[in-house]
Parts: sequence; structure tokens; C-alpha cells
Amino acid sequence: MDGFEFRDGRLWAESVAIEEIVGEVGTPVFVYSAETIREHLARLSEAFSPLSPQLRFSVKSCPNLSILKLVLDTGAGLDLVSGGELHRAIAAGADPAQCVFAGVGKTDTEIDAALAAGVGLFNVESGEELATLTSRCEALGRSARAALRINPEVEPGTHRHTATGRRATKFGVDLAEAAAIFKGHDHRSPLRLVGLHLHIGSPIATPAPYLDAIDKALSLRDDLRKAGCTIEVLDLGGGFAADYTTGQAPPAKAYAERFLPRLAPAVAEGLEIILEPGRSIVANAGILLVRVVFTKNSGGRRFAICDAGMNALIRPSHYDAFHFIWPARVGEHWVPPRREAAPPLEDLEVVDVVGPLCETGDYLALDRALPPLARGEVLAVFTAGAYGMSMANRYNSSPLPAEVLVDGDRWRLIRARESYDDLLEHERPARLARALPSPPLSTSCP
Ligand code: LLP
Repeated sequence: MDGFEFRDGRLWAESVAIEEIVGEVGTPVFVYSAETIREHLARLSEAFSPLSPQLRFSVKSCPNLSILKLVLDTGAGLDLVSGGELHRAIAAGADPAQCVFAGVGKTDTEIDAALAAGVGLFNVESGEELATLTSRCEALGRSARAALRINPEVEPGTHRHTATGRRATKFGVDLAEAAAIFKGHDHRSPLRLVGLHLHIGSPIATPAPYLDAIDKALSLRDDLRKAGCTIEVLDLGGGFAADYTTGQAPPAKAYAERFLPRLAPAVAEGLEIILEPGRSIVANAGILLVRVVFTKNSGGRRFAICDAGMNALIRPSHYDAFHFIWPARVGEHWVPPRREAAPPLEDLEVVDVVGPLCETGDYLALDRALPPLARGEVLAVFTAGAYGMSMANRYNSSPLPAEVLVDGDRWRLIRARESYDDLLEHERPARLARALPSPPLSTSCP
């Protein structure tokens, strides 16, 4: 389910016409559907309810404060991976006790901030990090709980940039190292090592790789129990797929049905389960709207050059990701029946949908069959709610896009479009002076 559909050839977000938003806010703009986010969270909770999991929404997928508030209002907590995300979580009103803090390279400053805030669970990724966290707990007189991220060495079947649970990635530690770390941890220390954390990659379109990883985690739990270490928490991370192409993503219950038989006995013994979904909640809840600036033919190809490309949505060029793209207003005979690369419609034209940046890799789609496009037309790029705005950048001095949240027949701006002045803000003398008073220029330099 998502809140975006064509009615009489015009695209709507829930009960708001896209044209209305573009008319007021302009392009590029990300538009999110509140109801879709709530619905996806509810379906996930429902599917996994026999395991009573704690949901920790992955902030990195869509960190806008209004989106986080919406998620928090459903009762979920947050999955954080940096001091910046902790800052955001607190600003959004999250209870730090309902947050998990992962990340392979937490600095002492970030660790101290998370300890001071009272983050509920640290997902630590190495023996050195565990030792550092323990000593920061002692130094600050704080106690905390941690889970150790393990690398289960499974094949998640996803893009190489986002496959984390394969052997020899930088994430977590292998099973032998994990056992050694657990056995070496002083269980009287103020840092209680209580759990195992997994996040094997993203997106993962079948339950099978999770099952391999869960089996390995449960067997490690048994071994550790024999050695006197109790595992109270199993955090399964995120990674569930989203519907980039209609019907592509298994529903939450397809994952849950396969997980339940394996996990139910351990849960009955008191094991707490954590899930850290991001993409499966927000990807289909967001679209990116861009405007065609020019069209042209060159070298045997047709191009639609838009007012944003990989600066707003880097996924096509960085991960070869497919995002369905369609004009926000079309004749009735061009309403797409499904979101797929080549919908079964007449008179489509094959076009490269590209951005304005000075790189050949700056595209949103290549060889895409679309209704003939004209200058000024608005295109909707679907399934852009996850890792869209959160990975947007200012390359070519492009101001970051605006963000809008639709809820029923109401909509509001949730992030203003950056201005050109915003681009200069951190380079202004007054800002620099506040950051680091510059020493007088040395006269002794040659
Ligand atoms: N937990 C941890 C520890 C993670 O590293 C991630 C995502 C998640 C949870 C949430 O995973 P999700 O449910 O969203 O799949 N930029 C890439 C995706 C990178 C995912 C990074 N980690 C993309 O656009 O495909």
C-alpha cells in the first residue's frame, strides 16, 4: 500500500493533488504520505506480534523531524547510528531509553552523549569499542546495556554496497571473535553485555538469508549459555525490501511467518526481539518531484534533463537502483497499470531521465519508456522516501530539496528548500569566528 495514485490522469498524494503542492513549493520536493508510514508500521507490528518485538525505526532512512515524530507517535523507538541522529532523536521528542545506538565508528564524544542521554541499548561492533564504552561508563559513573553486533557470514543477495552480513565486511565481528569477546567481558562492569545484534544488509527480498543468520545467532546463544553468558536481547536489524516495482517486496508477514517458528521458543524463554526497519516503512511513503528543464536528442539517445538528479536521489547512480518514474499528469490512456520499467502502454518513448549536474553518472533512470516528455513537465520518482533526502547532497552548489508531509486532505512543509544563502552560511566570517577564533596571522612565516 502507498498513498500515491493517479485519478483522471493526475497524481494524488492521499487526498491532495500533487499539482497543488508543486504550485506552492516548486521542485525538487520530496512528498511523504503520513498514512502510508502509519500503515506500514502497523502491518509490521501485527505480523510480528507473537514475538512482541520492539520496533526501532532506522533514522538514517528518513531523518526529517516531522517523520520521526510521526513514527514516535505510533509507539516505536528509534535506531541511531551517530551523534547527529541522537541529537535529532532528542529534538523529535524520542525517549532515549527507547533508542538503540549502532554504528561501526562511534567517537568518544558520541558515546558520552549517548550515555548522558540514557540510550537504551548500545550495539557495539568491536572489542575495542566495548572496552571504550566500558571505560566511559566507569569514568562518567553511568551504567548501560550493550549488544554485540555479529557478522553471521551469510549471503544477503543485495547490492555489494549494502551487503553487510557477508564475511569480511567492516561490520560486527565474526562468530569466533564474538564468543571470545563475550567470555572476556567482565560481567560485573557497569556495562552489561546482554545481547546479539545482526543487520545483514538491505534490501533483502527473501526471508532465507535472515533464517541463516538467526540460526547462527541462536546457536551462538546456546554456546554462550554453556559458558555462563545469558543473551537477553536479539536485535535483528532492518533490511526488509520495499516495492520499487509493483509486487516486488514480500509483505511483512512473509518474513514473520518464517521467523516465528525459529524464534518463538527463545522468546518464550524471555528473549527480547528488536527490529530496526527503515526502508520497508518509508520507501513507498515518499516520492520525489522534479521538473523537466530541457529535452534533447543527441548521439542516438533522447534525454529529459531535470532540475535535480543524483544530488536529490543518488540511489540510481550509486546502487544501480530502479525507481519508477512517471509524469505527474498524463492523458487517461497513459495511466500506468503497474510500476515497472516498461509498462504495457502504446506510444511510449525511450528516454534517459538525467539531472543537471556535471557528471555522466548523474541520472535518475536510463532507457526508460515514458510518455513523450516536454519542457516544464513535472515527473514523479516513486519509492524515494527511504535514502532519498537522507543521502541528498549539495554537489554543484545545489540547495537541498524541500520536504512536504501529506496527511489525508492536509499537507504542510516539513523542510524548507535551502536558499543560495544557506549554501554560504558556514563559510561566512562571523560563522567561522564562532567556530574557531582564528589566531593572528604569524609574521614569522617565511
Ligand atoms: N539497522 C542497521 C544497523 C542498519 O545499518 C540499517 C541500514 C538499518 C537498520 C535499516 O535498514 P533498512 O530497513 O532501511 O533496509 N543507502 C542504501 C541503504 C543502506 C542501508 C544502511 N543500513 C540504499 O539506498 O539502498
